[in-house]
Amino acid sequence: MGKPDFRLPPGVKDILPEEIPKWHYLEDIIRELAELYRFREIRTPIFEMALLFQRGVGEATDIVVKEMYIFKDRGGRELALRPEGTAPVARAYVEHGLHTRPQPLKLYYVGPMFRHDRPQMGRNRQFHQFGAEIFGAPGPAADAEVIFLLAEFLRRAGVKDWELELNSVGCPVCRPQLVAALEEYLGKHASSLCPDCRQRLERNPLRVLDCKEDSCRQVVQQAPTPLDYLCSRCESHFRGVQEELCSLGVPFRLNPRLVRGLDYYTGTAFEVLSPRLGAQNALGGGGRYDYLVEECGGPSTPGVGFAVGLERVLLALEKQEDSPLPKEEVRRGVFIAAADEEGRKRQAYWLRLLRSAGLPADRDYASGRGLRAQLKQADRHRARWALILGAEELGRGMVRLRDLESGEQVDLPETEVIAWLRQKETGGS
Ligand code: HAM
Repeated sequence: MGKPDFRLPPGVKDILPEEIPKWHYLEDIIRELAELYRFREIRTPIFEMALLFQRGVGEATDIVVKEMYIFKDRGGRELALRPEGTAPVARAYVEHGLHTRPQPLKLYYVGPMFRHDRPQMGRNRQFHQFGAEIFGAPGPAADAEVIFLLAEFLRRAGVKDWELELNSVGCPVCRPQLVAALEEYLGKHASSLCPDCRQRLERNPLRVLDCKEDSCRQVVQQAPTPLDYLCSRCESHFRGVQEELCSLGVPFRLNPRLVRGLDYYTGTAFEVLSPRLGAQNALGGGGRYDYLVEECGGPSTPGVGFAVGLERVLLALEKQEDSPLPKEEVRRGVFIAAADEEGRKRQAYWLRLLRSAGLPADRDYASGRGLRAQLKQADRHRARWALILGAEELGRGMVRLRDLESGEQVDLPETEVIAWLRQKETGGS
């Protein structure tokens, strides 16, 4: 029998310590922006009742049909790892009666999502989204607000060359006419459609509009689009969104064939694309979902939001020549090294003192290692300073501080060390 293979399956990745600064870079921007735009964080579990997504995202969507991780718990409940964050947030909104709080309610989330699709560049089975949702705001200003937040996030993160595509997919009033017209048109061209789209024709003909297959693209060039069939309410809402975006200075392009892969959308739908990402070129997307809260058992409540894929944002940034991502782990903190037995006795004291003063500090745990070995370790662990404790200096009330970047060192009175380090940490000379 061979050794068991514990490696992660394809499309699922560890994020190692050296990659963490990139994630913190994005997460810091998200927190700052959410505060600025007055969105509050919500954290929902990573699994839900599978039915939530079947009903919420849509029984016939690729996500539900092909991509959900479904399992039964020991109580026989059918659960799913969340493939997206909007339905869970809507579920929480209903479950906790959040509609009774002052509206609109502006929420955001950051966390892992799970979709069992074929892994490729930019497509993982576990990936992370930053998403934002506004509940209880029916007007176009709310659509523009979430798009503005998405655009500002990308701008602050330093993503270049992204493009925003905008469409309206209509509502229960106008969509039936569109679907009927599409069915009629596509029915005539069914033999030219790819096998997937022939199935979509039965289940959700709208999805044929944004198929990437050449044969389908040709067919849909002349196909009716949602914009041809918008009712007057959808039309004026959509015009309002465009006006708001112009006022906010967010450039966009109309794409009448943009339809999203989730069934809850009504009215506005949008996607942000990056030319650097190859086939999986959507950095983020979203839209309005005015019936989702009701679908989750709550009162009629409009909603609008977006989610952006953080792996894809990192990928786009890494492909830029002048990537703003933090390059290597910066040197940080103080490594406490002992030159002799006397110094070793004082290490614990200094460790406590520095840490309680808010200065990151570490030490060598092996007793009896030579000073050179300790300094080498300090360097390898990318400490900024080495605090060297030795009988001779300690006897005079002094310690030695070595700058591990330049190699320079100074002897300082013990009482001045904290102030000196603080001044250096804050950039003083
Ligand atoms: P979505 O378009 O399915 O929308 O996903 C949003 C983003 O998540 C995508 O644009 C992409 O960047 C990222 N993403 C999706 N699947 C993967 C994957 N397999 N690997 C890596 N990244 C991926 C939603 O999820 C909606 N909940 C957005 C929304 C919020 N609509 C309204 N509110």
